[in-house]
Amino acid sequence: MLHSLLFSADGDPMLCSRYVKTYKYCLERNAGAPVMPNFFSGSRGLAGLARRSVTILRILTGQINLTQGIGSANTSLAFFGGCLYALDESDLPYTMHVDPATGDISTVGRCDFKGRLVRAMTAHPKKDPVTEELFAFSYRPMPPFLTYFRFDPSGNKSGDVPIFSVKQASLMHDFAITENYVLFNDIQVVMKPMEILLGNGLPFGYDASKVPRLGVLPRYAVNESEIRWFEIPGFNVFHSINAWEEEGANGEKYLVLVAPVMLSVEHSLEQVELLHTCVQMVRINLDTGVVSRKPLSVGNLDLGVIHPSYMGRRNRYAYLAIGNPWPQVSGVAMLDYLVLERPVSILGRPGPMLWGGPFHSGTARSTSVLVANC
Ligand SMILES: [Fe+2]
Repeated sequence: MLHSLLFSADGDPMLCSRYVKTYKYCLERNAGAPVMPNFFSGSRGLAGLARRSVTILRILTGQINLTQGIGSANTSLAFFGGCLYALDESDLPYTMHVDPATGDISTVGRCDFKGRLVRAMTAHPKKDPVTEELFAFSYRPMPPFLTYFRFDPSGNKSGDVPIFSVKQASLMHDFAITENYVLFNDIQVVMKPMEILLGNGLPFGYDASKVPRLGVLPRYAVNESEIRWFEIPGFNVFHSINAWEEEGANGEKYLVLVAPVMLSVEHSLEQVELLHTCVQMVRINLDTGVVSRKPLSVGNLDLGVIHPSYMGRRNRYAYLAIGNPWPQVSGVAMLDYLVLERPVSILGRPGPMLWGGPFHSGTARSTSVLVANC
């Protein structure tokens, strides 16, 4: 569901809440019950076998048309090329419209960008604040496991850049950009689609034998010939906060990435309450290949945002949700990358709160947090 808040000079603010009318939403609204398979809920035992059988029957009889998508368009929003999109990484973007006169929200439709986007797209694309280009990728359980692409400022999609050096399908939920590069996280959470068919639960799993890697590709690359992979043990990242380029005292080139790292990644799927995410800064010397890293927080922080005008450029502050434990969120923290001895300022008062629930600030009830200029 999307919400809009319209402010006018001569009246009270107007709140509008509308469902994104995805294929899944319309199908289940008409059926009066959930019918689309939820690949993240797992499917074990006889109950799972029964659900899989019903789903297969619905597909074979045409009750479910998988070519229309399976997503909920409920992860994030992106505004680029003059359009607003609701995003879910398991589907194509849905174009949305907000009436500037009334604030009313309507679903325009599922968008394949003139036929050029043929597979689901990340829900965390990155918009360059200077060029207004949008950078994005797709991941899937069959080769090429990772595909990179971008959009020009008018919203025209580029050609695909398949990344065949990714040899195993990983859960690639997010990535990062700098002025000249895109950075991909190849982590230890891998895709196991056969588990669904075999009835063993989630289509994702933890691969203890894999070493996490960070892939660095020039952002205007037309193929993967220039990609470089840097192994970073334990660097399991779902979300990135920001990345940028730096030059050392002797002219050496560095890439810097700030991201929450899952310190107990083996719990990330089925026991998320045991997951602890600590923000770290990684520095890669592009001349020598040496990678260094340091923690920026001890708190259980994730879902970070920055001021969008600093995307891909050096910044100092980020704002993150405090897991208490995940998926419960007890407040919002401001993180100052430079003040390591006191890295977190608690803006919200810790307390029980679920996703989407009320948020109590330190002195007054609040339902939103404004990101200050940084
Ligand atoms: Fe996310």
